[in-house]
Amino acid sequence: MDERYSRLRGFLDLYGDDVFLFNLIEDTFIKYTKAYGFEEIKLPILERTELFVRSIGEGSDIVAKEMFSFEDKGGRKVTMRPEGTAGVVRAILENNLFSNPKYHKVYYIGPMFRAERPQAGRLRQFHQIGVEWFGSDSVIVDFETISLLWNILLDLKISPKVDLVINSVGCDECVHKYKDDLKVFFDKNYENFCKDCKTRREKNVLRIFDCKNHSCQNILKEAPKITDKLCKNCVTHLESLENWLSKASIPFLVDPHLVRGLDYYTRNVFEVRYRGIGAQNAIAGGGRYNNLVSEFGGPNIPAFGFAMGVERTILALKENITVPEELSVAVCSISPNEAEFSLKVASLIRSKGLKTHVLSYLDGIGKQMKTASKIGVKFAIIVGEDEVKEEKVTLKNMATGEQKKLPLTSLAETILTNP
Ligand code: HAM
Repeated sequence: MDERYSRLRGFLDLYGDDVFLFNLIEDTFIKYTKAYGFEEIKLPILERTELFVRSIGEGSDIVAKEMFSFEDKGGRKVTMRPEGTAGVVRAILENNLFSNPKYHKVYYIGPMFRAERPQAGRLRQFHQIGVEWFGSDSVIVDFETISLLWNILLDLKISPKVDLVINSVGCDECVHKYKDDLKVFFDKNYENFCKDCKTRREKNVLRIFDCKNHSCQNILKEAPKITDKLCKNCVTHLESLENWLSKASIPFLVDPHLVRGLDYYTRNVFEVRYRGIGAQNAIAGGGRYNNLVSEFGGPNIPAFGFAMGVERTILALKENITVPEELSVAVCSISPNEAEFSLKVASLIRSKGLKTHVLSYLDGIGKQMKTASKIGVKFAIIVGEDEVKEEKVTLKNMATGEQKKLPLTSLAETILTNP
């Protein structure tokens, strides 16, 4: 292919096993979100840039350097969504959905865009499936949402290989005190921090924890911990979550340096890390954001949510799941005279739900059989002059080579009971 038309870096084509695993993740996610009472919401990919700047924060890596933003023909600054939460809050406010408790719990599935430096597990277009729950500051909401995610991980059989890491980033009151402490710590080590961290110190000092630079990460090991600055209410909130998780036998770790890469969080936050897919091992993350709705001009409504990265979860599943072979068949005809009968056979077995390829459009039975084998069908159904006369077909098991003649009436059942 001419290089000029090649795929952009960080944008993936998904096919084969990847698509099977993508659908498995999506189906499992939908099964549990529905069971927990969430409603689906489908939102635009393009939003006003300001929506993300205001919510994710100017000092975040996402807003500072990773957004796909441009001016549209009307001169508006627009951005391809880097995440789902901001758009959900906008949509709920704009459509007045807060008036109906049915829409206080929503889920979404779709592509997100971040202009990050591509590497294994870090893409420029990736997919998130996420939930947002509005209306309560109760820790039961935090617990229920995390337990929903845990059930998905259990069902996908990856829960034994993940670490659920939790922390609290405090409320306005405690985060304020913590930021002061962090600035003092930063200034003591000022010369040793990278240029980006110096900018982060000015915009939002919490964001220094997002730095990927090894020497900055080393200094940060000694940084003060937010958990030492939490107010009584925030401590209780975190401890209650720990209690609920323990009671439900959901294993977790507390990481006092977990602050998440987006500015809107308050109180309890969490991440799920899969052990064994390299540096980009966060397969899901989320937390509480009690101020975002009011920051967008809405009422004072607390919220909690998370998003799971589909492509990273696919990497984790590949280590654990063997993709099952799909049952499919091919109908082949010896000569063009039997094409009509082969179409009739195909429509009969398709009506029983069998995945069926009609190969009669290819010249010659040899070519048809070769194609059937390349596609990987389990059975070939061969139709010749005799078969048409007798209203029968020859069924060939592609693995064993075994052939038998069958009446149309028992064809589908024979295939379905001999996978
Ligand atoms: P986030 O941690 O930025 O949170 O993203 C959630 C997940 O999306 C990550 O754990 C990861 O699996 C996946 N992800 C993020 N960036 C990339 C990338 N460049 N390539 C591949 N996968 C990626 C949020 O987006 C929040 N909106 C989550 C949330 C919902 N918080 C509250 N509600």
